[in-house]
Amino acid sequence: KFFKWLWRATYLSAIGGLIYVGYGIFEMRHPPDQVEPDPSKKTLVILGTGWGSVSLLKKLDTENYNVVVISPRNYFLFTPLLPSCTTGTIEHRSIMEPVRNFLRHKKTAVKFYEAEATKIDYQKKVVYINDESEIKGTVTSTEVPFDMLVVGVGAENATFGIPGVREHALFLKEVNDAQAIRKRIMDCCETATFKNQDPEEVKRLLHMVVVGGGPTGVEFAGELQDFFNNDLKKWIPDIKDNFHVTLVEALPNVLPMFSKQLIDYTEKTFKEETITIRTKTMVKNVTDKYIEAESVGPDGKKQLEKIPYGLLVWATGNAVRPVVKDLMSQIPAQKDSRRGLAVNEYLVVKGTENIWAVGDCAVANYAPTAQVASQEGAFLARLFNQMAKTEALESKLKELSEAQEKAPNQQARDEVFANIKELQRQLRRVKQIGPFQYSHQGSLAYIGSEKAVADISWLTGNFATGGTLTYFFWRSAYLSMCFSTRNRILVIMDWVKAKLFGRDVSRE
Ligand code: FAD
Ligand code: NAI
Repeated sequence: KFFKWLWRATYLSAIGGLIYVGYGIFEMRHPPDQVEPDPSKKTLVILGTGWGSVSLLKKLDTENYNVVVISPRNYFLFTPLLPSCTTGTIEHRSIMEPVRNFLRHKKTAVKFYEAEATKIDYQKKVVYINDESEIKGTVTSTEVPFDMLVVGVGAENATFGIPGVREHALFLKEVNDAQAIRKRIMDCCETATFKNQDPEEVKRLLHMVVVGGGPTGVEFAGELQDFFNNDLKKWIPDIKDNFHVTLVEALPNVLPMFSKQLIDYTEKTFKEETITIRTKTMVKNVTDKYIEAESVGPDGKKQLEKIPYGLLVWATGNAVRPVVKDLMSQIPAQKDSRRGLAVNEYLVVKGTENIWAVGDCAVANYAPTAQVASQEGAFLARLFNQMAKTEALESKLKELSEAQEKAPNQQARDEVFANIKELQRQLRRVKQIGPFQYSHQGSLAYIGSEKAVADISWLTGNFATGGTLTYFFWRSAYLSMCFSTRNRILVIMDWVKAKLFGRDVSRE
């Protein structure tokens, strides 16, 4: 009898789940008509369509402002799964969500311009924008005035001015970076198997070097080794003796933000996977065929060596974008800030009143992560929604005070006074928004061979774990964090596809 009930409950919940997903898809495909923005309202310009800006847009009541979004990217990118796109475990479109899709669902219409902000004039309250796309109209640059501005342009790749990096290395920040890496891996493999290829050249071409032992470098190295173990080795057996992944890190260990136990676990796992980790090795110069690195030996002596490579992926963290640097140079209060726009506890750019910054371009004493950026964006949405409510209540209060003065008798005055009291009570409640407080949920990273590491913030403290179970946790956590149901379904399908048929080894 118990199993009969259990079967019925499972059956009903599966039907309920299907109806829920079906309704979600129907709703997504049939957005209601939108209200046109009210030109008398303030213009709120949001730069970027990354974690910070999109999380703000998701929760913002757009009827309160004239919202304008400017970004060279007309989609949101779920960066935590980007390393999986470099090997085709996940197809890049599965982790992209077009901004048009979610903007179309806002109650009041939002303007979107696919363009790059080239300059922000703080005094004139204007953003200058350029159309950087391949297809150009007659107008390619213009200006957008703002009353309020949110800067969420993220960061660019740090190269520390090391010669040759920009020319020869590949990065891992955007979709086109992942595509370029995927193509280069296959190019190296196919060229290495060219008839009569020189053995030294084969070794060089199949040496995959990753610089930077932060989470980006570690996750990519793990994904690449998986690709080799599960697919490349089978389909191109000729490369199996020479294909090798090396991770180069300047510090004494990789993943410095993780706990010691997980660092050791990652290094041990990499050893088993035959990924070489070169710690205390700082890259100083890059040419088209080798990197020059200075390493510190066990005797403390420094030595310079040449490391040949076929693929070089550079993942050494973030640098400030030029548009942000330029804005900082216009504001005296920013003169001591180096890593981005210094903000106060309400994310207002220090030295300004009407500019806010979120995510990797803001310096608020938190790590530059998606977790921080999305919480900052959500905070700003609440702040702006409250500010609009406050303004509406204040103007109503003003009207009531005038009405009270003009009231013909005491009874009418008392009635208005009661309304004023009620509004003042509401206003006090609305104004109660505290400063931004970041809540750290933990750090997660995939390390290859179906293993992951996690430093999770628990009620009583931190909880560190690594292994295959953590890998399933990593998968379910990132799946639940994907932007939309569409993304979730596509990612699951990609995982199943890679498991059943293997990853695609075509070069394009
Ligand atoms: P971004 O998400 O980078 O968005 C910036 C936006 O601004 C983009 O839309 C860009 O096109 C736009 N833009 C750029 N220049 C201009 C301009 N001049 N004008 C207008 N718009 C502009 N963090 C985690 O917490 N967990 C993870 O697992 C994780 N994995 C990652 C994996 C990889 C491979 C990478 C690269 C990063 C990862 N991160 C992760 C870090 C995380 O992606 C960033 O911290 C996060 O993207 C920062 O959000 P953001 O909104 O500041 O910037
Ligand atoms: P990072 O800043 O975390 O790490 C870069 C590493 O490169 C550092 O360890 C540094 O010592 C090393 N390095 C710098 N110059 C070097 C040189 N010349 N030679 C050799 N090594 C050198 O950068 P990463 O991994 O790109 O991450 C950027 C941000 O995104 C971080 O805040 C990170 O936490 C976040 N992120 C988080 C992920 C996750 O939580 N799973 C995944 C990817 C990124």
